[in-house]
Amino acid sequence: MPEVILSFHDVHKDYLSHSSEWWSKSPLIKAVQGFDLDVEEGDSWGVVGESGCGKSTLAKMVMGLEKPTQGKIHFQSNELLNHLSENRTSFYRSVQMVYQHPTASLNPRQTVGQIFQYQIQRMGIDDDEHHSRIREVLENVHLSEEILDRYPHEFSGGQAQRVCIARALLSKPKLLVLDEPVSALDVSVQAEILKLLDKMRKELGLTYLFISHDLAVVEQICSKTVVMYAGKIVESGPTKKIFKNHKHPYTKLLLESVPVIGKPMESGNKVSVEPIPEDGCPFYPRCSHATESCLELPFSSNDKMDPAHQWRCHHPV
Ligand SMILES: Nc1ncnc2c1ncn2[C@@H]1O[C@H](COP(=O)(O)OP(=O)(O)O)[C@@H](O)[C@H]1O
Ligand SMILES: [Mg+2]
Repeated sequence: MPEVILSFHDVHKDYLSHSSEWWSKSPLIKAVQGFDLDVEEGDSWGVVGESGCGKSTLAKMVMGLEKPTQGKIHFQSNELLNHLSENRTSFYRSVQMVYQHPTASLNPRQTVGQIFQYQIQRMGIDDDEHHSRIREVLENVHLSEEILDRYPHEFSGGQAQRVCIARALLSKPKLLVLDEPVSALDVSVQAEILKLLDKMRKELGLTYLFISHDLAVVEQICSKTVVMYAGKIVESGPTKKIFKNHKHPYTKLLLESVPVIGKPMESGNKVSVEPIPEDGCPFYPRCSHATESCLELPFSSNDKMDPAHQWRCHHPV
């Protein structure tokens, strides 16, 4: 049995809203609500959902950039925040992140060589090892050593993202958190980077938490997918099941809502102004199947034939 490398136990994250008037009590933004997930070594889990559903907040919590308001995250059976406070360097050697905007995540005043050198120092990689390590990661991402003297602005988006991936690989991480890593790239470059990430995962034995608003991207690279809506998981399971045999009306809408030029949005795609209920299904205000029962728990049901496929809906489609 593969080891569970990353797990979320009933993780919540609330933010204070800054938009409220000064005299009123700040409403809470419930960015993540009750997130549970076990990521096994070698898995590539996709997290999908529309903008604002809490995906980046999850990534930030895994990287220790935000603290859960409630619940716990474990990395290799250690509570993540304890792990970070006890040995920050060892944690960041094992867990690295790749961001959406590659050029924004590279220091514009440093050459790639200097950027790598800085990472090598931060990660405490042995001096006598670092030349061979740089060569290895450049090979991994199919870049030549000649790029070490170049500055970030001299690269195309795809090349810059390869540099970011190479930098993340320097410390031989076990887990890569990829937050929309191809969303800022041209479609043709997207395909190239996805192919590269897929190959790297298999060859280097990496584990991915791959965040994207784009189901088509997740389908190409993730064997398992969790669908989020308004901070809650609505469906999760093998990616094939999510695509071919989805049960939650929101998953269906997400799959159908690839925009087509000239075609008006269906009413189901409109964001409702009705408040999302505290308990029950967050999709309730937008769902054409909704009944009173959706406002109440139980909020979970699963597939007896395939326990890995779970959805949270009283009226599966
Ligand atoms: N630092 C913050 N302060 C207040 N609200 C935030 C903060 N970060 C994120 N949010 C809010 O939390 C929700 C989820 O955001 P995010 O995780 O970035 O979503 P996604 O990555 O899925 O687009 C959004 O409503 C967003 O406005
Ligand atoms: Mg985001």
